[in-house]
Amino acid sequence: MPTPIPEPLLAQLCQFLENKMGLAFPARRWPELDRKITLLAQKSTCKDAPAYCDWLFSNALSKSQIEELARQLTIGETYFYRDRKSYHVLEQYVLPVIIESRRNQGKYLRIWSAGCASGEEPYTIAIILRQLIPDIAEWNIHILATDINPDFLEKARKGIYTQWSFRDVPESFQTKYFEEIGKNKYRILPGICDMVHFEYLNLAEDIYPSLTNNTNAMDIIFCRNVMIYFSQNLIGRIAQKFFHSLVEQGYLIVSPVEVSQTLAQTYETVRFQNVTLYRRNPNAAKNKVAIGKEARPIYPAFIHPQPLAKPTQVTVIPEAIQPVISEPAKKIPDREKLVVPEDKFYQDALVAYEQGNYHAAESVLKEIISAKKHHLPAIILLTKVNANLGRLDEALQLCREALEIDKLDPMLHYLQATILAELGDQPASIAALKKTIYLDPDFVLAHFYLGNVNLQLRQTSNARRYFQNALAILSKRAPEEILLASEGMTAGRLKEIIETNQ
Ligand SMILES: C[S@@+](CC[C@H](N)C(=O)[O-])C[C@H]1O[C@@H](n2cnc3c(N)ncnc32)[C@H](O)[C@@H]1O
Repeated sequence: MPTPIPEPLLAQLCQFLENKMGLAFPARRWPELDRKITLLAQKSTCKDAPAYCDWLFSNALSKSQIEELARQLTIGETYFYRDRKSYHVLEQYVLPVIIESRRNQGKYLRIWSAGCASGEEPYTIAIILRQLIPDIAEWNIHILATDINPDFLEKARKGIYTQWSFRDVPESFQTKYFEEIGKNKYRILPGICDMVHFEYLNLAEDIYPSLTNNTNAMDIIFCRNVMIYFSQNLIGRIAQKFFHSLVEQGYLIVSPVEVSQTLAQTYETVRFQNVTLYRRNPNAAKNKVAIGKEARPIYPAFIHPQPLAKPTQVTVIPEAIQPVISEPAKKIPDREKLVVPEDKFYQDALVAYEQGNYHAAESVLKEIISAKKHHLPAIILLTKVNANLGRLDEALQLCREALEIDKLDPMLHYLQATILAELGDQPASIAALKKTIYLDPDFVLAHFYLGNVNLQLRQTSNARRYFQNALAILSKRAPEEILLASEGMTAGRLKEIIETNQ
């Protein structure tokens, strides 16, 4: 008979799970939690469930430990066209407006299904886009689908489903977009499958929005039936982070049961035919409710990526670059003078940037730059601001200006590489990464990124070589060492990411 977990330990475990994975277990679910943790304990080397809990608490949880917990503790209930009304609103009101506004502006769209489970949600979105955009081959459509449970992601990537996943689909949906490959087995067509990029991402972690994992500048974020399991505190934090992951006027779509005051405090609430959506609108009065067609967004003329040959694939990697206050310059004599006087303003801009107030950061940075044209830290931060607002062409232009000032800074070449990769120019990104490594052979993130870009190009042996280079460099670093240009990623964590993804 397994040893039950004492209640105080269960309470501690709940706090732990909430911090690490966002999952809230109210007391009524403690018997279930006890059972699941006991199962994990039996598979481990711990003698019983309480010992397993102590072991969890005493270790910095690795990604694979989180995945193991996620396998046991998450619920992946989902199906195609789940909550049809939301998809109806998407098809009838939301997407047509965005598509129309982008027809003459680069033909791009960015959608994120956060907590995608086995993929029915992002594939439904991909199919709807297929139906709405006749010339879809000319568009750069980026559909990112993330989850914390690796088993769900594996199933999603395979795209094979049983009849149960089609329990509420419109007529012909199944026959048109799936092929029957066995008894009660239906595989999604490759053309749809290729539209969606599945990646591991723990929503409780502070790793989004980020240019480098492509969680920035989203037009729509779906996060349905996910936050339902989270604490109010975490919902508030995630709402803020999603807000900064969205372009202005971008939408957050949750399930009808998740419509909440917490979200309404951050977003403008928009109602279409009894379906409530949340819209990023910094200028709207908080909680303002807009109804139906009058709520049509006016899309600003974002400068954005031109159509890619192929949408970029996403790999969770650390943030590209911190604004750099570089060493005193030797090549440009007055550079030092340029950095110091505006320091307070720069710090204000940095704080605004870190809080996701990109427009506030932008106006301070522009003032700094108009006073001192070569203020490198300000130019770099403005580059990131633009990238986070989805203005990748402007970001690239600024990065090039920064490179004019300092061609020998490996961080700048690295930043340029991340922007180029997001613009879909993988060859140019590779060239910039090679320059980074030429200038600093130990720039581990550049090796890692080169591995990722090569993976996108299906150059697997090249990719493997760069990942091996990264591992070799990491083996000389202490696991707790924070990596250059990583915004807090440790050497140990990156090693783990590479090893688990190889
Ligand atoms: C019930 S499913 C929802 C699937 C789909 N969005 C839908 O509405 O049909 C909830 C998903 O959230 C995922 N999830 C739970 N906690 C998460 C976290 N901290 N980060 C990312 N995904 C998480 C689970 O693994 C699961 O796949």
